[in-house]
Amino acid sequence: MKGILNRMLKAKSSKQKAEAKPEMQAIGSLSGKVAIVTGGSRGIGKYIARRLAQEGSSVVIAGRTMADLRITAEEIAADGGRIIAVQTDVSNEKSVHRLLSKTLTEFGTIDILVNNAGQYMEKAITDMSVGEWNNVIGTNLTGPFLLSRAVLPEMIEKLDGTIVMISSTSGKRAKPNSAAYAASKFGIEGFSEALLHEVRGYNIRVIVVTPSSVDSSDRESRQILKGGKGARLRAEDVAETVVAAIKLPPRALVREVELWATNP
Ligand SMILES: NC(=O)c1ccc[n+]([C@@H]2O[C@H](COP(=O)([O-])OP(=O)(O)OC[C@H]3O[C@@H](n4cnc5c(N)ncnc54)[C@H](OP(=O)(O)O)[C@@H]3O)[C@@H](O)[C@H]2O)c1
Repeated sequence: MKGILNRMLKAKSSKQKAEAKPEMQAIGSLSGKVAIVTGGSRGIGKYIARRLAQEGSSVVIAGRTMADLRITAEEIAADGGRIIAVQTDVSNEKSVHRLLSKTLTEFGTIDILVNNAGQYMEKAITDMSVGEWNNVIGTNLTGPFLLSRAVLPEMIEKLDGTIVMISSTSGKRAKPNSAAYAASKFGIEGFSEALLHEVRGYNIRVIVVTPSSVDSSDRESRQILKGGKGARLRAEDVAETVVAAIKLPPRALVREVELWATNP
């Protein structure tokens, strides 16, 4: 008798799970969405592009090196993703304009922008040239400004859109020999806050994801610690966080996520 009751309860719970599934998919699905991921050829951006494609979005990856973009686009397309690659320098206004027009020509709209492209530089201020300073600021700060400005008219018109900024804990606490990088990431924090207040009235979300040190290498041979002392964040962890925040219903805004390694 107890066995029959257990089987009945089990069957009821699987039926409930099956019935709940379509609703969960409706909330979670990003199918039909169009996303641009800057710096999508490698590292964190590649994993974000892959996850968005797995969720059903059409994805445009942008970066300066076409050969790298092509390899990543082919990998994601081979897994069934809808993806194109557009050679872009995010610090260059004309290049960003071209990226947007290629996106609109190919997919007709833009729903999600992930400002991920970034350059790191470790150098003392006294050794830093103006060119080096400008490279870091141009990619990490001017880039997100140019990209956000480019996509906003489309998003404002349809009263819908999500802009994600990949910042860094260096945007909260600066270390020596990281002045340009820290300035760019502190800048992104301020830019994102101002942007959010300008656009949330149009139902546009601005989400800042702030990871600490990430192992974004792609090497199969890397030593991967699954947890415990010394385990660093991985690019997959950042990608998962980004996608989870985007997948919330449009009424819900994750304003900022600080993502830390648990026990570095
Ligand atoms: N790795 C970390 O520990 C860590 C921690 C916190 C935050 N972050 C942030 O996460 C983001 C990604 O970092 P990552 O470690 O994945 O970097 P990564 O492996 O060095 O990849 C950087 C990506 O950005 C592209 N890129 C660089 N400059 C560009 C430009 N001017 N225009 C267009 N694309 C450009 C690169 O392609 P091309 O070189 O071909 O252009 C590449 O696709 C960055 O914003 C970084 O600041 C990283």
